[in-house]
Order: sequence, then structure tokens, then C-alpha cells
Amino acid sequence: MKENTLDNIDKIVSLCKRRGFMFPSSEIYGGITGFWDYGPLGVELKRKIKDFWWERTVRLRDDVVGLDTSIICHPQTWIASGHVSHFSDPMVDCKKCKRRFRGDDVSATACPECGGELTPPRQFNLMFKTFVGPVESESAVAYLRPETCQSIFTQFKNVQISSRMKVPFGIAQVGKSFRNEITPKNFIFRSREFEQMEMEFFVRPAESQKWYEHWIAERLQWFYDLGIQKEKLRIRPHAKDELAHYAKGCSDVEYQFPFGWSELEGIADRGDYDLQQHLKASGKDLSYFDEETKEKFVPGVVECSVGVDRTFLTILCDAYHEEEAPTSEKGESEKRVVLRLNPRMAPYRAAFFPLSKKLGEPVRRLEHDLRKKFSTDYDEVGSIGKRYRRHDEIGTPFCLTYDFESEKDQKVTVRHRDTMIQERIGLEQIEHYLQENQ
Ligand code: GAP
Repeated sequence: MKENTLDNIDKIVSLCKRRGFMFPSSEIYGGITGFWDYGPLGVELKRKIKDFWWERTVRLRDDVVGLDTSIICHPQTWIASGHVSHFSDPMVDCKKCKRRFRGDDVSATACPECGGELTPPRQFNLMFKTFVGPVESESAVAYLRPETCQSIFTQFKNVQISSRMKVPFGIAQVGKSFRNEITPKNFIFRSREFEQMEMEFFVRPAESQKWYEHWIAERLQWFYDLGIQKEKLRIRPHAKDELAHYAKGCSDVEYQFPFGWSELEGIADRGDYDLQQHLKASGKDLSYFDEETKEKFVPGVVECSVGVDRTFLTILCDAYHEEEAPTSEKGESEKRVVLRLNPRMAPYRAAFFPLSKKLGEPVRRLEHDLRKKFSTDYDEVGSIGKRYRRHDEIGTPFCLTYDFESEKDQKVTVRHRDTMIQERIGLEQIEHYLQENQ
């Protein structure tokens, strides 16, 4: 069996549309650059990513609590955080072909498309502006949040007091963020509307290095546990000149995409900068009082910030395989596309096929019963071979076929996605079998 992994992101874009993971937003009107819609299978995978992050970051820990804040918040937030004055990218235009580029994406002074002359870079603020209320005046301006974490800082005191958390502790949030990116690209890698999973961990300033290292290790392990190939992941510590002036350290988790090593997540020791900024701008006390030591201080922050959509893209790129698979006894072969997804993440854990539509009723009953425990699918359309191919492409780990023999021996044939090995198991074993084979 000859195998190829992914060499081109377009194969993922095409599979996503063909199988209903993802569509261009408003496609019937020609689409809108930088916006994407998750289809029926996409929402399942996306939900599993967020659940897995929440389980590891919040539910299984004693020291992290959750939060879900509004997308639009007081505009002063973005002045205090520095976004109004500094959240911009350099933008250049080609005077000849009129194409627009992010300054960081073009190294030469000539247009990479047509060789024309480029304008000098201008700073372009990435925040989407809107108005709150019926009057479109300067005083009604508000912003769609470009990151979810700022409301974690502004709600720090409410959360700490109401939940009685003691430093060190974290606040986590999952939600939409918006950036008017100059050049959205690489499918959902850089889009204008995306989702982030962010966790701000509040620490004693003297302990920040310890927690920074703790979270780098935790976050890398999370990607391993998602099933991502270890050799395609790396930690890249930022050089001194890449760091924000207030940050003590920052490291990216990077993945080797078909378009090169790129950032999946940033883990940063941000010092007490964020709380200090909001404390100054609001005049409210955002310090923490330690009852035991009777010390009062503004906590430092270690941040973990990862994109849901980038994780989604990573999972698909990492799982994608093309193989020359034998299809007949004569050894003829055809191309098989298979998503070798971690069974935990697969949109369906198992698909149930009746060999013939006549056998539909017992198979539907079986599948409905198992829905309470697993995400499952029922498929009676096309030959068994075609059904296998369809489920290989969407990453279903097990296909179970109920045939005429099943009526008598109360057994089904289980076919494994990765090995294509088939075995016969009893109907009463199915639940245990799916549970065990994670
Ligand atoms: N609060 C820190 C922060 O927002 P960031 O490096 O700008 O840091 C964190 O973003 C993560 O959010 C990135 O590592 C990436 O996974 C995701 N992200 C950022 N911009 C994105 C975009 N335009 N499209 C998709 N994901 C994006």
C-alpha cells in the first residue's frame, strides 16, 4: 500500500466542501473574502475541539474557571489595552496592478505579482468598527473584539471574588474574535472572523517563569493528545526583538503545514501589564489581596491563546492521507483518500450499513440505540465499497455492516478505517468494542 501525505492545502479545501466540513461564506453571492461557514461535519469536529480544550483547561483542573463575555465591550477597553493606537499591520499597494499586501509578506520593494512599484507601508488598524445605538457618531463607536482575553482582564476582580479563587488561578474563555486582516490566506489559517480559546493564568510575579514553563508543556501535550504527529509540532521561543515591550517571554506552538511552519498558539508571560493598564484607565482596584500573607499585589499573567480554526485545519492536514489501495483480488488499485483522525475527534465514531435496503429496519434500530453513547451515522446509499470510501474521507474509524447472515448469527462485520481489516463481532459486543477502540 503506497502512501502520500498532504502536499497542497487545496486538497483540504476541496475535501471540506465535498464532504460538508466547510463552505465559503455566502457562496451564492460570490463569497466574501476571509469568512467561512462550518458545514454539518465541520460543526461536529469544531465542537469536539472546543470540548477537548475545555475539559483539559477548565473541567479537569482545580485552578481554572470559565467565562463567556460579550463580543462588543466598552470601547475604553481597547484604548487601555493599546489596540486603538497599536493594533495595526503595515500595508503596501502595488501602483501598477493595484494589489494590496501586508508589509510583512513582501520582502522586496517590487510587487511580487507583477514587479510594479510598491507604495511605502502605511499602518492599518485591524479592528472592525461599528456603532452602538441608533446614532452613527464618534461617541457611539465600538469595536468587534480582536481577541477574547481583554474581557478576562476587565472581569478579573468579579470572577476572583465570586468564585473565591486564590492566586495562582486561571480564567478561560472560548469565543469569536474579529480582525480586518489585510490579506486573509491559506484557507481558514488567517481569516477575518475566527474563534479563540484563551486562558489567562494569574500568578505571583516572582513565580511567572515556573508557570510559563508549566503551560508550554501542558499545551504541547494537548496537541499530542489530539493525535497530531509529534515530529510536525515544535515550540518556537520568540527572539528578544519579537517580544512586546512588556512581555518577559513568549513561545509559539508551530505546526508544519503544507505552506510551511506556522503559528498555532502563543504562550506568553505578559507580566502585570494588562491589569495595570485597565487599573490605570478605569481607576478601579484590580489588585489581589492574599489573606494568608496579608500581601496586596497586581498579579502577573501567563497567557495561552490558540485558534479553534487553526487547530481544525491542523487536524485535517495532519490526518489527510492518500493511498494506492488494492480493490480487487486481481490486485487492481485505486486512490483512497483517508482521514486518519483520532477517533475522539472524528465526526462519527461509527457508521452502520445494511447490506441491502431490505435490512434497513434492524440497522436503524441498532444505530439509534448507540447514538446515546457515540456519534454515529446510518448509510444505505451505494455499494458497500462506495460507503467505505465516503467514510474513509470523513475519518469514520469503524464501519459496521449488517448482512443476511446477521439475522441468523447476530453478528456484524466491522471494517477498520486505517488497516481496512475486517472482523466479525456479536451485536451485544458493539458498544464495548467502540468504547475500547478509542
Ligand atoms: N490574546 C493574544 C492573541 O490574541 P494572537 O497571536 O494574536 O494572540 C492567538 O492570536 C491565536 O489566535 C493565534 O495563535 C491563532 O491560532 C489565532 N488567530 C489569530 N489571528 C487569526 C486569524 N486572523 N485567523 C485565524 N486564527 C487566528
